[in-house]
Amino acid sequence: MCGIVGYVGTKQAAPFLIEGLTKLEYRGYDSAGIAVFDGETINVEKTVGRLAALKEKLEGHVPVGCVGIGHTRWATHGRPSDRNSHPHTDCSGDFVVVHNGIIENYMSLKEQLIKKGHEFKSETDTEVIAHLLEELYTGDFEAAVREVLKRIDGSYSLVFMSKNDPDKLICTKKDNPLVIGLGDGENFIASDIPAIIARTRKTYIINDGEVAVVKKDSIWITNREGQPVTKKIFEVNWNAEAAEKGGYEHFMLKEIHEQPKAVRETMSARVAKDNSAIIMEELKWNKEYLDSFQKIFVVACGTAYNAALVGKYYIEKLVRIPVEVDIASEFRYRSPIIDDRTLTIVVSQSGETSDTLAALKESKRLGAKTLAITNVVGSSIAREADQVIYTWAGPEIAVASTKAYTTQLITMFMLAMYMAGIKGTVTPERTKELLTQLHQIPAQISETLEDVEPIKTFAKEYGFNEDVFFIGRSLDYAVALEGSLKLKEISYIHAEAYAAGELKHGTLALIIEGVPVIALATQKNVYEKTLSNIKEVKARDAVVIGIASANDSELEKYVDHVIKVPETDELLIPILTVVPLQLLAYYAAITRQCDVDKPRNLAKSVTVE
Ligand code: AGP
Repeated sequence: MCGIVGYVGTKQAAPFLIEGLTKLEYRGYDSAGIAVFDGETINVEKTVGRLAALKEKLEGHVPVGCVGIGHTRWATHGRPSDRNSHPHTDCSGDFVVVHNGIIENYMSLKEQLIKKGHEFKSETDTEVIAHLLEELYTGDFEAAVREVLKRIDGSYSLVFMSKNDPDKLICTKKDNPLVIGLGDGENFIASDIPAIIARTRKTYIINDGEVAVVKKDSIWITNREGQPVTKKIFEVNWNAEAAEKGGYEHFMLKEIHEQPKAVRETMSARVAKDNSAIIMEELKWNKEYLDSFQKIFVVACGTAYNAALVGKYYIEKLVRIPVEVDIASEFRYRSPIIDDRTLTIVVSQSGETSDTLAALKESKRLGAKTLAITNVVGSSIAREADQVIYTWAGPEIAVASTKAYTTQLITMFMLAMYMAGIKGTVTPERTKELLTQLHQIPAQISETLEDVEPIKTFAKEYGFNEDVFFIGRSLDYAVALEGSLKLKEISYIHAEAYAAGELKHGTLALIIEGVPVIALATQKNVYEKTLSNIKEVKARDAVVIGIASANDSELEKYVDHVIKVPETDELLIPILTVVPLQLLAYYAAITRQCDVDKPRNLAKSVTVE
């Protein structure tokens, strides 16, 4: 999730480009750059690091010119570095592009272009677009852009610049946001409204497949087929802070609603088109490598630890290799039994959590092979691990992790299916069945997000209880742990999650009249057992909110309220059942007027022991 900007006008472009990128830094901040046409050449200035590093680099020689584009990066392909920073150019430097998104087929396009003599300067997927434009250009800039769009797969918002057509910028989008700001004798392009709100409140919201040719005094928009499109002006009435949150009240709520996209992006280019297999280009594992492992550790902290628990179920169920899950701060000091037949997987959104980093280093010291699952390209954990799988959730600003968790679950599932594909532990029919359902998950998350009113009501009704319990069995228990952590960390309610079968061994003593119990019951092989545990707490007059799958017509007979999520395979349902729990925590925190995005005593990335 990068930030992109563009300017065509009569004023100097660079000041707007820098100002706009400053407003978009919440979208990504590991490197930045601008390109400005000075009447003869397109000057590209870019650097690794936050925007401040670019400003410092430009001091005393800010590129001059009235047409320019800019970018602030959230790395997905190619670690943060000067050469991987945007804007990217073709061999001649005549075509320059900035991009937000992921080009799924970039590797095959790159190989074809290299065969045709193109020389690449970066590891990014984006640079392929600049060379493709160079390859396809025959004198008509817009036509060449359309030819490029026919050949790229993935998600993108793009702004193109050409030395041959210096009075215009061309921009387009698919699955990623893009807006055009309407000025007087100038026009602005941005991946998001915060970048332009200080200059204009009149905007065009660009739709998928639309291509806009933007000049200082005209904007020509056509659809995928090239037919002209008449756009309605969208008048922005948000203040700058609200704009950064995309109109949501808090980053946490915005990030909860970004989950369909985050999960879709994390799956992109990793599920074979015919649903026959999972592709992990970044691993290149084989049966011999997998057979060398006698044991797998999955180690993490907090929410990432809760995702690791789900990962254990997936790997043991689908690959039949024993998995031990550990809290990193415990793992690093308990001299775990590790040797060169051990694989240690560490999970971390930030990639900087010191306990998890230390656990990784300890595993390597003891001879284990290591794999990191992280959301930040180039982070310490990513650099330390032997191999890395990136979740593509984009920057997560709110302290309470939400979209990172669901992308970690989907990554764990894909990893298990990838290993099962190599070891042949899942039949081709079951693989197809599971991967077909996997494709539906992003849309099913959207469906789950549609009706939040009942959850708001429960939050208001039970938001002032100081004790709340979560129960579940098997994968439901793992999700219950995450639900209780979310409620604890942002609403400060003392929430506890228990394996439902464990209640009788002590905790049932805490169940009294009116205490809220959130009971997850989606796992078929333990469904009846879970029902009987629900009856146990109901017998003590607890108020039970049940979480069930859509086709379940049984649970509602035993609980006070039921929240249903769309039907899917019980292995995948944790990615759906966590969503109402995230919302419950959010609205409980709102009810208790807590600082949702910055809860007391907590930090987004814990870089101390
Ligand atoms: C979760 O909402 C918390 N922010 C916290 O538990 C977090 O998951 C934990 O600190 C691990 O962070 P990481 O994923 O960045 O390593």
